[in-house]
Amino acid sequence: MSPEGDALALPQAPEAHLRQLLRRIRETLREHYGLTNVRIRPLGGGASRFSLPCQLIGTHGGRRIPLFAKIVGTSDLLTVVASQFIKNMYLTMNAKDSLFDVPTSALEVAEYQSDTLARMRKLGLNTARPLGFHPLDGVRVLLVTEWIEGTPLSRTTVTPQMMESAFGQLAALHRGGVQHGDLKSDNIMVGPTGKVFLLDVARFRESAPVRAREAYDLACLMCTMAQYQSSDAVIAAASKNFDPGRLQTSAEYLGLVRRRPDFYLTDLIAERLRNGLRRR
Ligand SMILES: Nc1ncnc2c1ncn2[C@@H]1O[C@H](COP(=O)(O)OP(=O)(O)OP(=O)(O)O)[C@@H](O)[C@H]1O
Ligand SMILES: [Mg+2]
Repeated sequence: MSPEGDALALPQAPEAHLRQLLRRIRETLREHYGLTNVRIRPLGGGASRFSLPCQLIGTHGGRRIPLFAKIVGTSDLLTVVASQFIKNMYLTMNAKDSLFDVPTSALEVAEYQSDTLARMRKLGLNTARPLGFHPLDGVRVLLVTEWIEGTPLSRTTVTPQMMESAFGQLAALHRGGVQHGDLKSDNIMVGPTGKVFLLDVARFRESAPVRAREAYDLACLMCTMAQYQSSDAVIAAASKNFDPGRLQTSAEYLGLVRRRPDFYLTDLIAERLRNGLRRR
């Protein structure tokens, strides 16, 4: 090709790449799910970093079927590594064990998320049924789950019943030997009848003590709910499912959660939660 030809082809490369990716997604859905005429609709989403969530709607047996999927590995792995590293640093500086795993590939992330959602379903919790994960190219992986008709927690009026359901499910998850790893408003959805779904899990470090992982999960859920309900109501709902010892341990992680950019907690609310938990 002439030098001019090369120069002209360069700006078109991202578009060609995107087209190829979309083609691969359609092929995957036909091959593995028998879906044709697939429409791919990217979902906005909060602070998503390592994936691109989408709704996929395809035809099967004359019916239109919606699925949830995310293209894992779309943004820089370095961003995720940096964020996990900073959270671990914060814990180390506060004389606590590092908790957060640093993913090394999209495949590892997709496999972990798919396996953990399956374990959650086995425990009888409300979450999306995982359907499969499929490498798209050398870097990206498509994770497919059932589509949940619902609204993100941040766009719902959070009721005491919803809070109790969320804390109850977290306690059941922990009793089943599973930790969530990334509880926050973005990762909780509410169905039309008020059913609460816990979604989008993240892996803790292999060496992190289970008790600390559980305490961090509980701190995240309390901080999530404290964005919508009074700290007293949040602690009351948590207390129905977690004993005072666990509530007190979780208070040790409030400082970290408070500093996360995807939580919107004022110092006053964090302080109220901390004081309320101390009194337990
Ligand atoms: N099964 C589902 N059905 C419908 N909507 C969903 C489903 N799972 C998640 N969502 C919505 O899509 C958004 C993004 O999904 P998710 O949280 O799994 O991805 P992410 O945050 O981009 O992933 P990651 O944290 O791995 O980068 C969620 O905040 C939620 O509102
Ligand atoms: Mg998420």
